[in-house]
Amino acid sequence: MAIIALVSAKGSPGVTTTALACTLSWHHRVVLAECDPAGGSIMAGYLAGALPGPRGLGELAVGELRDGNLEETFWSQLVDLDAPKRERLLLPGVVDPAQAGSVIPLWQRFADFFAALGRGRPAYDVIVDCGRLHVVGTPWPILRAADVVLIVTAARLPSLSSSQATIRAIERDFAEHRVPAGSLRLLLVGDGHSRGEVSKALRLPVIEHLPHDPRTAEVLSHGGTVRSGRPLMRAAGALEVPVRALLDRRRARLGWPAAQEVPDAV
Ligand SMILES: Nc1ncnc2c1ncn2[C@@H]1O[C@H](COP(=O)(O)OP(=O)(O)OP(=O)(O)O)[C@@H](O)[C@H]1O
Ligand SMILES: [Mg+2]
Repeated sequence: MAIIALVSAKGSPGVTTTALACTLSWHHRVVLAECDPAGGSIMAGYLAGALPGPRGLGELAVGELRDGNLEETFWSQLVDLDAPKRERLLLPGVVDPAQAGSVIPLWQRFADFFAALGRGRPAYDVIVDCGRLHVVGTPWPILRAADVVLIVTAARLPSLSSSQATIRAIERDFAEHRVPAGSLRLLLVGDGHSRGEVSKALRLPVIEHLPHDPRTAEVLSHGGTVRSGRPLMRAAGALEVPVRALLDRRRARLGWPAAQEVPDAV
């Protein structure tokens, strides 16, 4: 199983919406971790503030800094998006900007912990919403540890040109930190240029092009019933195939063991 990190350049191309669409349509056990240092939005948005009490990354960070007990407290901080199955879990992001200060020093600790979740029994994929790259507190250790890093970008020109700088910044950082090559891909959202045009212009392969689907995006952003037959949900579920293929190719090239397979499939 794997860490799949989603990040954007600027604007709001749909990182959170895409991460949630994937989580709700993924075929393996999955945890969605909202590690956007600017704050999480799923509790207040998709879950419409329905759950009482603070929980999530901020609480986890405070507990970890105080008692170093991440392993014990992690599961109690999750929201079951598909209750009671515990197959699609959400780790909500920080809501209070003051909490971001406790979270940022722990990115490496979380990265190591997420990697361990991928090897656990049962194993989980971890989809991480890393937010915008250039804000203070970017979770670089998670991006470096990720098996797949998807730069989410709208398929139109302004978004594409800012993504170019982001790609080069990530490539530079990965080279400096000796991150094995091959984890980085573009994920296009909405109408605009084609996959071929974009990968040529930005010199990075496009893993998938998700459709413009405002009805589904509205439900994922503000709550309601998600319909699995909707274009965005189908495309998000189908994204797992090229992600898994990329992962397997990269692991084979690096001589790493293949991802644990089917027994844990949802
Ligand atoms: N595939 C899509 N089709 C139509 N609208 C979309 C799609 N994906 C996202 N949106 C809409 O775009 C807006 C921004 O989405 P979202 O909050 O997911 O972006 P983001 O990249 O996480 O932004 P931020 O960096 O501010 O956190 C929302 O109104 C959302 O409903
Ligand atoms: Mg977001």
